[in-house]
Amino acid sequence: MEIKKVGVVGCGFMGSGITQACAQSGYQVIVSEINDEILNKGLTTIDYYLTRSVLKSKISQQDKDSALARIKGTTNTRDFSDCDLVIEVVPENIDLKKEVFTRIDKICSEHTILASNTSCISIFELAKATNRPEKVLGTHFLSPVPPSKLLEIVRSAATSDETLEIGKKFGESLGKTVIVAKDVPPFIFNRLLMALEGTALQMLEEGIATKEDIDKSMTLGLYHPIGPIALLDFNGIDVAYKVCQAMYEQTKDPQYAPSPLIKKMIEAGWLGRKTGKGFYDYK
Ligand SMILES: NC(=O)c1ccc[n+]([C@@H]2O[C@H](COP(=O)([O-])OP(=O)(O)OC[C@H]3O[C@@H](n4cnc5c(N)ncnc54)[C@H](O)[C@@H]3O)[C@@H](O)[C@H]2O)c1
Repeated sequence: MEIKKVGVVGCGFMGSGITQACAQSGYQVIVSEINDEILNKGLTTIDYYLTRSVLKSKISQQDKDSALARIKGTTNTRDFSDCDLVIEVVPENIDLKKEVFTRIDKICSEHTILASNTSCISIFELAKATNRPEKVLGTHFLSPVPPSKLLEIVRSAATSDETLEIGKKFGESLGKTVIVAKDVPPFIFNRLLMALEGTALQMLEEGIATKEDIDKSMTLGLYHPIGPIALLDFNGIDVAYKVCQAMYEQTKDPQYAPSPLIKKMIEAGWLGRKTGKGFYDYK
């Protein structure tokens, strides 16, 4: 089966990036939101990042115009009826995601593949909310989506070989290298990232090392482009909190519970680079 038209449910932080990446790779994309105001905000974000790429001479004006022409926004999920692939990118809430899967399953044709961008919910649990569990898989994109080189695909116990192959080909067509994880959240990338960031935070809290030295140990010792503490600032302390909280709720594993330090920083409004202050000062 050839994917021509992609549906994206949710045009927030990740959904707008996924929409942009698909459109830039030549797919027709339809993206939905809960109301026109949030939809327009998401579409404006895509326009902003494409314009920035033109200004940096990464793409031409024509590339930008063609990508935008391939994107259609909607607030009516019925518009997903002729999509070959629909990617769910709504907030990390299992009831909400199941509700989206059940609705999309009823609207889409038999051949349509359904995917979730979930970070920590079992794909099998979501597949059970549909009548096509063999056509359901995880497509865990990393942020920022368009330049990211990696796509983690999650195969549930019910995902068919054919669906997995189509998912892999789709990821490669977006210019990503695909890795395949078993359906055991938090999958590969987040499992490693959370272990690194969790240990870095614990060392900071216990006064074992300064933030600068923790970061240097990874940038100079392991050639990471950025240290774990600076990475928390880069991605946003609130984003780290959200991911930890969702992971903890799903797994009940205390290693994923948000650290007290992160909670204090959120209370103080120190969310990282975007607020000018996080663990480091950016003013
Ligand atoms: N933020 C990250 O770095 C990151 C990375 C990888 C995966 N994820 C996962 O991606 C998903 C989305 O995360 P996000 O950071 O983009 O969240 P977000 O809050 O920025 O975006 C979610 C969007 O979904 C919309 N939405 C809610 N219900 C909807 C519905 N029924 N129909 C259409 N739109 C609806 C919301 O209005 C919102 O704009 C989550 O599952 C998250 O775990 C996030």
